[in-house]
Amino acid sequence: MRRPRRGTSHRGPDNAAEQISGGGAHARGQHVAVKIDRPSEVGEYDAAMQTLLQLLWGEGFLSPGGAAEVAYLLEGSNLAGCSVLDIGCGLGAVDELLITRHGAQSVLGVDVDPGLLASMAQRIEHAGLRSRVTALCVKPGPLPLAAGSFDVVFSKDAIVQIPDKAAVFADAYRLLRPGGTLIVSDWLRGGSGAYSPEMLEYFRLEGLAYNMANLAETTATLARVGFVEIEPRDRNAWYRDLARRELAALEGELRPLVTERIGAEKAEHFVNNWRQLVLVLERGELRPAHIKARK
Ligand SMILES: C[S@@+](CC[C@H](N)C(=O)[O-])C[C@H]1O[C@@H](n2cnc3c(N)ncnc32)[C@H](O)[C@@H]1O
Repeated sequence: MRRPRRGTSHRGPDNAAEQISGGGAHARGQHVAVKIDRPSEVGEYDAAMQTLLQLLWGEGFLSPGGAAEVAYLLEGSNLAGCSVLDIGCGLGAVDELLITRHGAQSVLGVDVDPGLLASMAQRIEHAGLRSRVTALCVKPGPLPLAAGSFDVVFSKDAIVQIPDKAAVFADAYRLLRPGGTLIVSDWLRGGSGAYSPEMLEYFRLEGLAYNMANLAETTATLARVGFVEIEPRDRNAWYRDLARRELAALEGELRPLVTERIGAEKAEHFVNNWRQLVLVLERGELRPAHIKARK
């Protein structure tokens, strides 16, 4: 495996999983893969990360904003009576909301990580929603589901982990009934080309697979696969401000609880992770966004 210089572009199949060494003591060790242009791995969201994210974002959420952000994403969309596919459902709190607050008739949540899905299944059972919410473990790639099966294809902050955007959006298009709606929140990038050293350091601290497109690339891909009425909404400013507050909490009021739950070393790691997150949000290089489109 080649060892790239810091700050150079790592895009492309030949250098999809390079390693960057050094960078100071790190809860995950000295050599940490920057995972770009490659699929998410089972177990990426380890116990410490799941604990930390849920302390910040709420029980059952692996993405920011909780119920309010889901409601904002769904503003203007009527899910009443709809069959919904959720790509990258994680721990399933969002799927519960799609039924209990937003009126969906049924939700099929798919994810690549069986551990997360096992927790989701418990959550759904506990909520008494077993007849309405199903969890399905899938492999990256086209989903083993019939064309035209869903009124809505939904995804919250998961498509960033999927390298082939054209393929995932073409599959979403295939799975929607004619006139069906795509509703996506995703972590996009600002700009294009080589990632900055700041972004590469952010990826290193995260340890998660990142496959980022910008908003223009994403809307162009959606149009190419056939979607119409494409409506993008940038969420950079919203998450920049929230992430600043999350960092303050990790440094302050939440620190004792986080330390108790995951240990001092990992707590320190996540403070550094969040400092870098705030930095790339402030630089506009990380740009969460909402996108809706119709088949
Ligand atoms: C940031 S988490 C978001 C989870 C959930 N949507 C939420 O908002 O709490 C991203 C999720 O996408 C899943 N994922 C990654 N690659 C995937 C793929 N190719 N197909 C389905 N899920 C995937 C991960 O396992 C993880 O659960």
